[in-house]
Amino acid sequence: MDIISITGAAYIVAALLFILSLAGLSRHESAKSGLTYGMVGMGVALVATIAQTVDVSEYVEDRSMIIALLLLAVFAGAAIGLWRARIVEMTGMPELIALLHSFVGLAAVLIGVNGHLAGSHYSLDSLNNIHEAEVSIGIFIGAVTFTGSIVANLKLSAKISSSPLMLPGKNLINVGSLVLFVILTVVYVAVDPGTGQDIVLAILTLLALALGWHLVASIGGGDMPVVVSMLNSYSGWAAAASGFLLGNDLLIVTGALVGSSGAYLSYIMCKAMNRSFISVIAGGFGIAAPAGEDKDYGEHREIQADAVAELLAGASSVIITPGYGMAVAQAQYPVADLTAKLRAKGVEVRFGIHPVAGRLPGHMNVLLAEAKLPYDIVLEMDEINDDFASTDVVLVIGANDTVNPAANDDPSSPIAGMPVLEVWNAKDVIVFKRSMAAGYAGVQNPLFFRENSQMLFGDAKDRVEDIVRALG
Ligand code: TAP
Repeated sequence: MDIISITGAAYIVAALLFILSLAGLSRHESAKSGLTYGMVGMGVALVATIAQTVDVSEYVEDRSMIIALLLLAVFAGAAIGLWRARIVEMTGMPELIALLHSFVGLAAVLIGVNGHLAGSHYSLDSLNNIHEAEVSIGIFIGAVTFTGSIVANLKLSAKISSSPLMLPGKNLINVGSLVLFVILTVVYVAVDPGTGQDIVLAILTLLALALGWHLVASIGGGDMPVVVSMLNSYSGWAAAASGFLLGNDLLIVTGALVGSSGAYLSYIMCKAMNRSFISVIAGGFGIAAPAGEDKDYGEHREIQADAVAELLAGASSVIITPGYGMAVAQAQYPVADLTAKLRAKGVEVRFGIHPVAGRLPGHMNVLLAEAKLPYDIVLEMDEINDDFASTDVVLVIGANDTVNPAANDDPSSPIAGMPVLEVWNAKDVIVFKRSMAAGYAGVQNPLFFRENSQMLFGDAKDRVEDIVRALG
């Protein structure tokens, strides 16, 4: 059997493993085996691709140079990837993911430029035209993904402001850029190589780089989760476009898997955030926060850990709604101890998880699983939202935007319309945070000033540990 048939078979095996991986990742219980399938699939794909490159390069003069470059790229990439993965904090994961998406975009641009420089040498004009269209589409999607992901990285790491850039006529800019892209592609395909094709492609690349920047810069803080999953999808389509250019079937399949699963995740998140999917993929959903006047919400009340312990000991039902602050404080372990203590005393303890709590999809679920909390007491927002009214105590641990009643009550709020955990319906609400500062979306939270709310200030981990100690 020749190497092409062997790699073809290996690619089918890898593609199947990637599908099994996605299926596994969709449920808590099977997530670990899903990751294993993905890693084995990637291993098979890498070995097959390296073997094919080494074999094909037999017919090339500087074969050893090609192999050396290939190994250098593989080892440098693996070393940097291992180093980053080992040092990244869980809270820094979203920005790292955004950065990785930008690499996929950049790779697609470079592959597109290579496709342009190498040209196509089919005897049929129509096939040459298809190659040129692939170059143009690959560069466009790659460049949009590249700059869009860089802006997302800068926003998520707070290196630039997360508030939306509101250029006048931003929708026109986005739609106009798309129309211009189609026109430039037609021109690029129509003109002969050497007669201005380079210039057309350069303009198209700059246009796509600027569009990617604008699409993500126009999106406001609270909507960033959807942007991250949207860029995930774009990076998949960029990889698929590269697959067409390189004639690599596995890249096409894998890119389509990432592209469609990312699009589906964006759809689910849009539903959770009450946003229109179409306006998200058009990048036009980051509506500016109306300059809200400084409202006087009245006074907030404070409580100490001992008093919270007493309240909890006397409760029959408790719901914990964790948020980004629990991740920052790494409070999941004392939270697990607290849960065990209360359950041992016969208190019903459940968790309410908002779909965009934290900084990446499933962030809270991962932390709670890490602390070995049983899955069956961890519920989605929709499953638990009606139960707050019959709950004695809610512990809001480092959550803010996801429990903000302004999303329901104040149409001028930047998070208006986003479904939230309706914690204020419970008898008592205890809010764990360090100050009265706003959450990610930068808006004040009227929950803190409600009559049944009390603030427990300090680092969430320290305060939960205090409560566990007080419970004895
Ligand atoms: P946030 O609204 O981000 O609020 C977190 C709160 O935790 C802050 O108000 C902060 O208050 C508190 N905090 C921080 N460190 C703490 C510590 N060590 N101990 C105690 N409290 C601490 O949280 P959320 O409710 O989870 O909402 C998530 C937000 O992030 C949403 O706006 C969402 O759209 C956005 N976002 C989500 C994602 C995904 S995919 N989940 C991705 C990007 C953005 P203090 O500073 O006063 O302590």
